[in-house]
Amino acid sequence: MRLFIDTGSVDEVREIAAWGVLAGATTNPSLLAKSGDDPGDAIRRICELVDGPVSAEVVSDDPERMVVEGRALRALHEHVTVKVPFGAAGLQATRALSDEGIPVNMTLVFTPTQAILSAEAGATYVSCFMGRLDDVSVDSAAVLAEIVGALRPAGAAVQVLAASIRHPEHVVTAATLGCEVATVPAKVLRQMLNHPLTAEGIAKFDADWQSRPELARWLDSLTGTVAVR
Ligand code: E4P
Repeated sequence: MRLFIDTGSVDEVREIAAWGVLAGATTNPSLLAKSGDDPGDAIRRICELVDGPVSAEVVSDDPERMVVEGRALRALHEHVTVKVPFGAAGLQATRALSDEGIPVNMTLVFTPTQAILSAEAGATYVSCFMGRLDDVSVDSAAVLAEIVGALRPAGAAVQVLAASIRHPEHVVTAATLGCEVATVPAKVLRQMLNHPLTAEGIAKFDADWQSRPELARWLDSLTGTVAVR
């Protein structure tokens, strides 16, 4: 499963992209509004930081206007995937944009039927919102499994993108169910780094190594550099 970062913050993308784990990014109107940056600048800079698709969302509810906004967003950078909110207008816009060769991420998908319609309209991604389903006491893992199960047997080319990720376990569930992508906030990506036994193990290796100072001198001579300690 590929990992995207879900953010409107260029700084967060820069931080996590340095780990070498990002295959793309997703933004939405709320995230871009929160970042406070010029949206066009932010989208372009995020596109330059990640070597993969970056979703930028249309905000109109009129299909023709959605297509106009989608074309303009796509013109910002070749990495842009146009994010379209699900609905009759969104399906119409998705068909038009995908027929022009513009990739579409259909967002706000909560049921297998919505996912099937999105796939038929030519969407490249269907974004299923796990956290928002859990918020209304619907089992997000069960819905995601149904969506994957509904699309896979027919060999649909559409990729299932797990979104609205609230904790690391959502990421594991998405991977286990066979989602192609999970888009994950920086906070959850940072949480995925941590385990107390990892921290404890590193501290012990360090203490044991430093108990014999000649080992540090050996490593400096091996690398030809002096390590900062
Ligand atoms: C997806 O692409 C959306 O930007 C996002 O995952 C929404 O998540 P939220 O429910 O935490 O706002």
